[in-house]
Amino acid sequence: MSINYKELAQKYQTPYYVYDFDYITNQYNELKESFKARKSLIAYALKANSNLSVIKHLAQLGAGADCVSIGEVKRALKVGIPPYKIIFSGVGKIDGEIQEALEFDILMINVESAAELNRVEKIAKELGKVARISIRVNPNIDPKTHPYISTGLHENKFGVDIDTAKRMYIQCNNSEFLEPVGIHCHIGSQLTQLQPIKESVQIIADLVRNLKAIKIELSFMDVGGGLGIIYDDEKLIDTYEYAQAVLESMFGLDITVVCEPGRFIVGNAGTFVTKVLYEKVNGEKRFVIVDGAMNDLIRPSLYNAYHKVEVLNNNNELSKCNLVGPICESGDFFAKDITLPKTEHNDLIAIHSAGAYGFVMSSNYNTRGRVAEIAVENGKDRLIRKRESFEDIIALEEEFIK
Ligand code: LLP
Repeated sequence: MSINYKELAQKYQTPYYVYDFDYITNQYNELKESFKARKSLIAYALKANSNLSVIKHLAQLGAGADCVSIGEVKRALKVGIPPYKIIFSGVGKIDGEIQEALEFDILMINVESAAELNRVEKIAKELGKVARISIRVNPNIDPKTHPYISTGLHENKFGVDIDTAKRMYIQCNNSEFLEPVGIHCHIGSQLTQLQPIKESVQIIADLVRNLKAIKIELSFMDVGGGLGIIYDDEKLIDTYEYAQAVLESMFGLDITVVCEPGRFIVGNAGTFVTKVLYEKVNGEKRFVIVDGAMNDLIRPSLYNAYHKVEVLNNNNELSKCNLVGPICESGDFFAKDITLPKTEHNDLIAIHSAGAYGFVMSSNYNTRGRVAEIAVENGKDRLIRKRESFEDIIALEEEFIK
């Protein structure tokens, strides 16, 4: 990718996120192509990056949407993702969200507990609708990833065990207001090992077969998201091998494969660009202070996540430092003990692999406006979200000052 960060900084100021839309296209096509032996739906997980232009770009490629709030469902609909390609997941759906999802007539509601299924049935009955249901099965598999982004163990809050799932499918089958259409599992994020995925898809495929034996025929097998990306030197799961493992588990079943990648599609398409304000040395410790902060990109502070850092156009002498933002918290850092050249005021720093769970997790902490987002496509840049102004930040409070 050849993005001129300096030109973008002059045009849009810093900090900013920039996304390479051509890279997004390639990632989407690679995954879609891997599943070509079957009918498939790549339901992009909006939570990774829900900028409307990003979703629209994926909509135009044919993607569906995996949503975890009615807000995300509305984003997907707004940019033209058809309702029949939209899935609504999440452990804690609110009544109003379930109602709206039914009214929008989306592909399926992914139910995560027996109590939720009762709720959906009741709401569907009130509306005189039939709710298409998928059930999230927790296969009790250790995905071998960061504990905060691991979801497929019984100790996690997600999904239901196999026996409960089976009972729920029977309930769906016996209800006039529920229609069982899908099955779902997702064991975690930033996965770099194929074996846990293989095991979990096998478990849900077996359940699909058991259900078929009692005349409950599902149409969609949703294998979740979670494909890892390179932040540092990770060895990745080969996309083709991933698809093969999934397709093999489905042998003999007439079912559409669904997957819900987020990070894989957008993670390495995005870069967070920030500018050096100052350098200082406290005792032995060198700090490079930039205009971006933890409120803009929280992954290093929250998960101790690694993001590759590059000081642009600078060949000065190298030494160890901490790269930090201006927020008054010691947790406000992008990297600790990294080797960077001696920086000058206004040097640009690119923080890579920031396209997923970057901007979407940003906040106004310290009354800092959320940064600008830029798309680059076919060598051309365009603004896809304005930098927030002070007025934007106070807009919902101002009228209440007494
Ligand atoms: N499907 C379900 C049910 C999920 O829970 C998730 C992510 C995905 C799909 C998409 O996963 P992906 O393909 O992006 O790995 N904020 C954390 C990641 C949280 C992931 C939550 N669930 C981070 O910054 O690493």
